Amino acid sequence: MSRNGPYIVTGKIPLTTMEICDDDQGYCQTWREVNRYPLKDKYALCRCGGSKNKPFCDGAHAKIHFDGTEAGDYELFDKTTEMIQGPALTLADKKHLCAHARFCLRAGGIRSLVAKSDDPEARNNAIEEVYNCPAGRLVITDNESEKVLEPELERSIVVIEYPPRSEHGPLWVRGGIAIESADGKLYEIRNRVTLCGCGKSKNKPFCNGSHVEE
Ligand code: FES
Repeated sequence: MSRNGPYIVTGKIPLTTMEICDDDQGYCQTWREVNRYPLKDKYALCRCGGSKNKPFCDGAHAKIHFDGTEAGDYELFDKTTEMIQGPALTLADKKHLCAHARFCLRAGGIRSLVAKSDDPEARNNAIEEVYNCPAGRLVITDNESEKVLEPELERSIVVIEYPPRSEHGPLWVRGGIAIESADGKLYEIRNRVTLCGCGKSKNKPFCNGSHVEE
């Protein structure tokens, strides 16, 4: 990314917009793709929140003197993570990565689902909720096989929208795309991660849910 400017995306990465869809009780449950941008070799995505041409940068960062100072950690996910052990599944939870997508609140909540993960329905719901967590705050392991369970995600960037609350952002970086700091240092490559698009995160370049509290 550039120092106090946009994310520079290279390598012909697909860019889409997806909406979070509620279940019939108003809990976030699924994703729906609503737009797919023409494929480009290279593009710049706004990270200051000030562009009038979102998700793309329009140069507003310079006018508003955007401070893009990074505070995200470089440690591997499992080094600093709270572990919650259930009978069939173990949940790893790195709270400060939360993007407030709220998938983990459905069906009694992820922690209670993990606690009763010897029940097949609870187990399936727990896995579904973790798979939908765009930020990668939550990661789940099958106790018997000791395998980390991860969804197969298209290598792409998704602009997240949540129409019921008119929430816009963050940017969901999926499928193991390398993210390089303004100093040229690589963050851990992960399957699911969300980047700040409003400019307000205190954990830049990662989203910390600040767009929700606007
Ligand atoms: S980063 Fe350039 S307009 Fe926001």
